[in-house]
Amino acid sequence: MHNKIKVCTLGLGYIGLPTSALIASHQIPVHGVDISQTVVDTINAGKIHIVEPDLDKTAANAVTSGFLKASTAPIAADTYLIVVPTPFKSGNHEPDISYIQAATEAILPLLKENDLYIIESTSPVGTTERMRDFIFSKRPELKGKIYIAYCPERVLPGNVIYELVHNDRVIGGIDEVSTKKAVAFYGQFVKGELHQTNARTAEMCKLTENSSRDVQIAFANELSLICDKAGIDVWELIRLANKHPRVNILQPGSGVGGHCIAVDPYFITAEFPMESQIIGKAREINNYKAFWCAQKIKNTIQEFELKHNRVPTVALMGLAFKPNIDDLRQSPAIYIAQKVLQEANDETYFIVEPNIDNHPYYKVTAVEEAVAKADIIAFLVAHNEFKQLVIGEDKIILDFCGVKKQ
Ligand SMILES: NC(=O)c1ccc[n+]([C@@H]2O[C@H](COP(=O)([O-])OP(=O)(O)OC[C@H]3O[C@@H](n4cnc5c(N)ncnc54)[C@H](O)[C@@H]3O)[C@@H](O)[C@H]2O)c1
Repeated sequence: MHNKIKVCTLGLGYIGLPTSALIASHQIPVHGVDISQTVVDTINAGKIHIVEPDLDKTAANAVTSGFLKASTAPIAADTYLIVVPTPFKSGNHEPDISYIQAATEAILPLLKENDLYIIESTSPVGTTERMRDFIFSKRPELKGKIYIAYCPERVLPGNVIYELVHNDRVIGGIDEVSTKKAVAFYGQFVKGELHQTNARTAEMCKLTENSSRDVQIAFANELSLICDKAGIDVWELIRLANKHPRVNILQPGSGVGGHCIAVDPYFITAEFPMESQIIGKAREINNYKAFWCAQKIKNTIQEFELKHNRVPTVALMGLAFKPNIDDLRQSPAIYIAQKVLQEANDETYFIVEPNIDNHPYYKVTAVEEAVAKADIIAFLVAHNEFKQLVIGEDKIILDFCGVKKQ
């Protein structure tokens, strides 16, 4: 029965590839499409082009069993999954849905009665309805005859294979039959609960989840700025405040980065600028925190120079956007390193990132060597490797992420 359903996935990246491999592992034929020939060739060779635990085996099995094939062109299927990027338009924070539009355009001639079209890409509110209108403007005969839904992805990179199966999903159709059809589709391979709503709510739900995290981190970061001025240890303060049975403050850090929490709130502020005051302010605070950290390092260097009459050596500890990963995308630590090194003599700096071997711009130094040689040690990311370090009393420590406190 399942063998009769065919899926065509558009976009074979961090989300599209694991999703396609998972569906194929349920003996559902998947035709995966990517505009990158390299991506397509890699997958068809039974290999993967992204770092994700356990994905290599799942994808290789899916390809060798014949249930997953990659191509640069779509083919006729029963279900189409749109999992392409949704970046910003260049130069501002407005979401760019042209990739979704291009992927939709590519399958337009293939769509037929009873097909199911699902967008998984993180999207501004109204995108699914816009694509519905686009499809029906080009293929008016399909009006009321195909199913259209939105189902956002909320997996954690590094744990994608488990979370794809076990996370709850929010599924919103453009009408009730579309929602039901999409729920039946995900029910074949998702064990988490499938929550039904409409397309606009499902789109907003994804944006809300990441904005909620951003706002909560901004609160912690704001406290860290206040405490610095007030001479209070913010880590002790938060630990004590969290003893209240109904208070749960997150930990401050050197900013917020990555491709989700630091990005998705702008999908709301771009469209609802007047209404999204807290969401917008949280973005500003979290961006400002990285600027503030860079200033703090520069000021500490100047104070050192005045006191000791020599230029200090500085260790910048961590480049990733969060602890214990190698992902440097939109990392506040990278921003801080750039700001600090702008006016610097490189010889006096040690850049440390234990999760990468090398970097195109920075010479990466081993943890122990940097700590031994530096006068000033600035912790930008709370990597596990930094937690047990024994640091001499003569060193100046700037602990922006509580690596020595948590
Ligand atoms: N990575 C995550 O952790 C995560 C989590 C939740 C949601 N999302 C969302 O999922 C979507 C996809 O993210 P990703 O991380 O998989 O992106 P990605 O950049 O890893 O992969 C996207 C792939 O789509 C391909 N592509 C671009 N245009 C195409 C087209 N017209 N037809 C076919 N393929 C095309 C690209 O070549 C690329 O390989 C985004 O909207 C993202 O915000 C990502």
